[in-house]
Amino acid sequence: MLQTLKPVPPDALLAVTEAFRADPSRDKVDLGVGVYRDATGITPVPRAVRAAEQKLLARQTSKAYVGQGGNRPFATFMEKLALGSNHPALRDGRVTTLQSVGGTGALRLVAELMRLSGYAREVRVSNPTWANHIPVLQGAGLATAAYPYYDIAGGQLLADRMLEALDACEPGTVVLLHGSCHNPTGADPHPGHWTELAELMDRRGLIPFVDLAYQGLGRGLDADAAGLRLLCERLPEVLVALSCSKNFGLYRERVGAVMCVAEHAAAATTAMSQLQALARRNYSMPPDHGAAIVAEIASDQALLGDWQQELDDMRDRVNGLRRSLSTALRGELGGGRFDFIEQQAGMFSMLGLPPAAVERLRSEHHVYTAPDSRLNIAGLSGKEIAAVAAAIAAVSRD
Ligand SMILES: Cc1ncc(COP(=O)(O)O)c(C=O)c1O
Repeated sequence: MLQTLKPVPPDALLAVTEAFRADPSRDKVDLGVGVYRDATGITPVPRAVRAAEQKLLARQTSKAYVGQGGNRPFATFMEKLALGSNHPALRDGRVTTLQSVGGTGALRLVAELMRLSGYAREVRVSNPTWANHIPVLQGAGLATAAYPYYDIAGGQLLADRMLEALDACEPGTVVLLHGSCHNPTGADPHPGHWTELAELMDRRGLIPFVDLAYQGLGRGLDADAAGLRLLCERLPEVLVALSCSKNFGLYRERVGAVMCVAEHAAAATTAMSQLQALARRNYSMPPDHGAAIVAEIASDQALLGDWQQELDDMRDRVNGLRRSLSTALRGELGGGRFDFIEQQAGMFSMLGLPPAAVERLRSEHHVYTAPDSRLNIAGLSGKEIAAVAAAIAAVSRD
């Protein structure tokens, strides 16, 4: 059997990492990675995570399975983090949440739930979107199609075109939205656009599927969830994939959650029973450690405060780098071609450069971005900004 399989071509982004490793230059800069880095270039374990792990280690007496739905205090905390503690959907008991294997696991479980329902046949995704969205959705047997979202060359959100395209979708179409810090563009809908999206989706009978993987890294924990909260107030059903990889720095622990906001409490209960059955068929029982860390932090005011402080610091660092890079590029090129970098949010922006310019950035200047010219702003240490701006300017001029 195995000899009948065709090899999968290497992932283009991983190839960038390989090329970066092989580059002997001492001045090389890796802006291709998809993880937060601090000023010293490492992806830190947050202080609160370390402290929570120590407490757990001292206390844990068993490694027996956790329950099918995962860690319940964790799920309750995630609902409150995403929706705020007093959201009407929570008061009405129409929210249900299952611990998942990272945000990706949550996306996959929601996709399988949709397929199982037989109701939702097609998912609309933004153009562009995170590289793994389409494979995850299609891998679960769903059809995908794109809606206009961003003008890559001009660095602008195409809000009107997005709204127009969604207005033409069939009722029952699922629309995948990035809750905040859109990956790969960094361009988010403004509050007014979220109001229009909620009105339109309600009127047209569309189902929002919100991927919230960067809560707290864009404009703040509440601001980054404001669009999601509005949709959950206005619409009967919202599906949500949550991730603790970025905001808790728990990447390799694989912790996230599926949150379903249903029309009635009974529908939420049924959705949970199906999610548990899907999880059982996939991996049987959820892992413990990542969710236990988050629950431990949530249960301790001092740890919770320290986590929020460190998250605020991470966000401030990224936003400071955005400002510095925009300013340096204005200095190099005059005009405001790259001012969008300062206005956007989260770890990523797209330079909008053609493949030949991306290649020159690598070969002539040792600056590594993703092949589509997405750069991870958090991959910059402050002292590299002048050189990186000069390199981008050099390949943008001609
Ligand atoms: C938009 C988006 N969604 C979801 C994820 C999933 O993250 P994880 O599975 O590591 O929690 C990522 C990770 O890069 C992402 O960028």
